[in-house]
Amino acid sequence: MYFFQDLFLPPQRSTVAADTDALFGFVHATSFIFLVLIVAAIVGFSIIYRRRSEHDSTPVITHNAKLEITWSVIPFILVMIVFGWGFRGYLNLRTAPPDAYEVRAIGKSWLWEFHYDNGTVSVGELHVPVDRPVKLVMNSTDVIHSFYVPDYRIKRDVLPGRYSSVWFEATETGESIVFCTEYCGTAHSDMMAKVVVHEEEEFNTWLATANVQDSNLPPAELGAELVVRNACATCHSSDGSELQGPTFAGLFGKTETMEDGTTVTVDENYIRSSILRPNEQIVAGYQPVMPPYEGTLNDNQINAIIEYIKTLD
Ligand code: CUA
Repeated sequence: MYFFQDLFLPPQRSTVAADTDALFGFVHATSFIFLVLIVAAIVGFSIIYRRRSEHDSTPVITHNAKLEITWSVIPFILVMIVFGWGFRGYLNLRTAPPDAYEVRAIGKSWLWEFHYDNGTVSVGELHVPVDRPVKLVMNSTDVIHSFYVPDYRIKRDVLPGRYSSVWFEATETGESIVFCTEYCGTAHSDMMAKVVVHEEEEFNTWLATANVQDSNLPPAELGAELVVRNACATCHSSDGSELQGPTFAGLFGKTETMEDGTTVTVDENYIRSSILRPNEQIVAGYQPVMPPYEGTLNDNQINAIIEYIKTLD
């Protein structure tokens, strides 16, 4: 089993990972044993019962009750073991422990956003304490996404218009990758985040200071950081290269032509409304795919991003 583990499974970093891997191993081991038995039977029979002369023929066999019961009962038992084991795991994932720490997770094309109980918001990074169950209450603002952390062996669809939830308990500190596993458009493969697992005390410090630390940075520097942290950089480059959205380089002061033919000069107000309600004014040649950042970024953060864009020419 450890051979399997190292060969193709990521490290086990949650309380449910070992059980999930054991089931995975059981399915593989059983399949492998039957593969060997069946191939051996095929080869053996084709040698033993090969045609040796013109008059060599097998009598017609209509049925064999013993054989038929055997090949029905054995697979049935195996399937029921896998079903029972899998169902128990499913129920466990659906039922968060009552003392779980709750975080709201929002999937947007194409980023993950997390809201904590004290009002802190983080994008692209989910911060959690180690050795404590964490329950995510999730929804999407646009299409179906799926929240997947391979290290934790958890995966759950994230839907627009209704909540779904998943829980996990991280067993070690460090970082694990979050993938979106439901195809959700052009930048689906870039829709990643990470889980950052802290010691309890370190987590509390992070939670209390996450949005305060920012005010110590000069606006343009903070803006540069926010652009990465909030996944703006997934679609907007800062060096002039073309991605899903217009580049930030040389953007400020530029005259852009909108879908409806009108022109807009890119100033503070245009950038601000494009961040908060991006789909009201779409630059010609681009798709209306950016998620609104209303409720995600505060005024201070928006100012910082504007200052950062101003520095790029
Ligand atoms: Cu979100 Cu794929």
